[in-house]
Amino acid sequence: MEPDFAALRREFPLLEHKIYLNSGSYCALANRVRAAFETYLEDRLAVGANWDVWVTKNEAVRSLMARVLHASPDEIAVTASASAGLNALASALEFSGGRDKIVVSDFEFPTNAQIWHSQEQRGARVVHARRDVDGYIPPESFMDLIDESTRLVAITHVCFRNGARLDIPAIVRLARAKGAMVLLDCYQSVGSVDIDVKALDVDFAVGGMLKYLLGTAGIGFLYVRDALVRSLHPTHTGWFAQENIFAMDITANRPASNARRFESGTPAVVNCYAAEAGLEVLLGVGTQAIERRVRSLTRRCMERLREIDWPSITPASDDRRGAMICVPSRASGPLSQELMKRNIVTSNRDANLRICLHFYNNDDDVDGLIEALRELRGEFAAH
Ligand SMILES: Cc1ncc(COP(=O)(O)O)c(C=O)c1O
Repeated sequence: MEPDFAALRREFPLLEHKIYLNSGSYCALANRVRAAFETYLEDRLAVGANWDVWVTKNEAVRSLMARVLHASPDEIAVTASASAGLNALASALEFSGGRDKIVVSDFEFPTNAQIWHSQEQRGARVVHARRDVDGYIPPESFMDLIDESTRLVAITHVCFRNGARLDIPAIVRLARAKGAMVLLDCYQSVGSVDIDVKALDVDFAVGGMLKYLLGTAGIGFLYVRDALVRSLHPTHTGWFAQENIFAMDITANRPASNARRFESGTPAVVNCYAAEAGLEVLLGVGTQAIERRVRSLTRRCMERLREIDWPSITPASDDRRGAMICVPSRASGPLSQELMKRNIVTSNRDANLRICLHFYNNDDDVDGLIEALRELRGEFAAH
């Protein structure tokens, strides 16, 4: 049986007065997450420094995040951002022994290209899989790039610019055939798509809690496949990455034997409270049910966009998109502002309006957006 989405919607007060289609930037705030922030403040007022609870919260986030990704808690580092996880990982990789190439794609969020380009100082070579004329990047575009000199293929799951979803299993197969490792930037998919890192067979996955995971800014995660953890020695480190955090030993670096070795300093405690609550709401709904719901909402939205002759540029096939649909506009920023005047919250990138749907959206949200776009089409459509 599907979850009671109408009841779940009441958990998000913002939805009473806004058509909220911006979860790819920041999710709507759940009552339970708000309550978690308040509990943090109450705990501060009651006991001040509450170390035991803080560590418990960080561990709770680790365990919940492991459940979301179908991984083990020992494979999860709780980080301050996706970038922090990427930097810790990059610091542990070597670009020698004939394996100096990193393959990224044209769909990357800047941080997942910039951090790899910064490794050029350490001997890495970064190459980009280019988008085709139709705007997509098929696995074949990676074929010539991934070879025996490839250390890492670092790719996004769903592109933040156009909503296209890469064929990860096919790309992973290419990487495996050449002995390269794979990092998945799943920030724009995790929480809206069911992600099983084992089934996808990726080595690393990175993301954060403020979008479809229902948490807050300032907290992220890095998944590292168990078999690789102990062979990687990050130089981007700190006391929270040590085997025994409270050993306070200043004579040596003794990294944790699990993925905590990719963490660094004091966790963002208040964010742990919020992320824990958000992940609990998400897992309570279930990531497979969420994926089905998001797929049906995005499909409806794309069909209705075609009806008003303002088609999306996001791939139409279900397995080539996530929760984001992009609509081309001759003035995407002003269009988003016009919609905001009508209480419809979207975002824009490049020449596209970004429409992001989560399980708490419904058909009425889609229809409300379409009616507004029908009125605005003459002024804002790309053609
Ligand atoms: C796909 C993707 N990767 C990475 C990031 C950056 O994450 P952070 O700011 O946590 O480093 C974002 C942020 O929007 C994103 O959408």
